[in-house]
Amino acid sequence: MTYNIGVIKGDGIGPEIVTEAVKVLDAVGAKFGHQFNYNEILMGGCSIDTTGEPLTDEAIEAAKASDAVLMGSIGGNTSTSPWYKLPADKRPEAGLLKLRKSLNLFANLRPAYLYEELKEACPLRDDIIGEGFDMMIMRELTGGLYFGERSTKEENGQLVARDSLTYSETEIRRIAKRGFDIAMKRRKKVTSVDKANVLDSSRLWRKIVEEVAADYPEVSYEHMLVDNCAMQLVKDPGQFDVILTENMFGDILSDEASMVTGSIGMLSSASLNDTKFGLYEPSGGSAPDIAGKGIANPIATILSAAMMLRYSFDLDAEADAIESAVKKVLKDGFRTIDIMPRDGSNVKQVGTVDMGTLIVERL
Ligand code: IPM
Ligand code: MG
Repeated sequence: MTYNIGVIKGDGIGPEIVTEAVKVLDAVGAKFGHQFNYNEILMGGCSIDTTGEPLTDEAIEAAKASDAVLMGSIGGNTSTSPWYKLPADKRPEAGLLKLRKSLNLFANLRPAYLYEELKEACPLRDDIIGEGFDMMIMRELTGGLYFGERSTKEENGQLVARDSLTYSETEIRRIAKRGFDIAMKRRKKVTSVDKANVLDSSRLWRKIVEEVAADYPEVSYEHMLVDNCAMQLVKDPGQFDVILTENMFGDILSDEASMVTGSIGMLSSASLNDTKFGLYEPSGGSAPDIAGKGIANPIATILSAAMMLRYSFDLDAEADAIESAVKKVLKDGFRTIDIMPRDGSNVKQVGTVDMGTLIVERL
């Protein structure tokens, strides 16, 4: 089969990590007899530099015309980059938000899994790590604070800024269903995270999640307040299977969850709509501080490519092959700097390109 993949390399470490993921995809294509065609799409700071916009209409059309989009990362240093002198809707991140919204990518899946081999890189104590953990964060991606009305106005002689948090029943129901559906394929537990002791949007969230839960009698579910969830993630991460939550809480909790897996450089993600199309990207940022140094961890992007094969193309065996090659490379003792064990023993530190090559060799 032939698949047309839109590729957004983006900024910072983006081009480096995407190049490795494409290398792995090409190797998978050769092994399993698929043709992957790539169409480069500009988004983020590099698009601002070339076109003056973080995401042009042509870029959106190119993304829509692809079977799926693989992305690196966008953005720069928010205190020093000239991109952050631009009005908010012209900055790199605005491109990503516009892409998510234009393609209706409301369901963001972020799997946080502790590899046996990375226990030594996990910042938690051994007794907390226990048997390890394996959770899926299901983050709502096109609603809430990210897309509510906002303004900064002068009122009574001072500036006042407003961001509004809105959720409709429909938005909550469709993401909740996705959360319960994925739980059915896993350990059948959903933790719905909200701030229902304070927010109306969270009280509606809870009500709709309960209605959806009634259709999934096999799934056990609980509600958890977001502040408690932030604490539970470092106190007992093994308790979670699917964490179902709104946009802003999911943004914060997924960074936290990634770090307890050892590094944000390991966390892949898929952003899906109602079709087979998806946007696949590592959950980490563009890491401008290490860009161009050849040390960034490409594994999250490579695992995102595996998610693309699984969710958009139904190529499960091919996705499995990538995931086991990643496990093998870790087992064989190769690490990028971000996942080096605390004591540095018995493993070999490698750079971005070598990590990609070592994974290809293990396919
Ligand atoms: C993420 C990122 C984005 C977000 C930024 C770059 C806008 O942090 O994908 O988690 O906040 O959603
Ligand atoms: Mg984030």
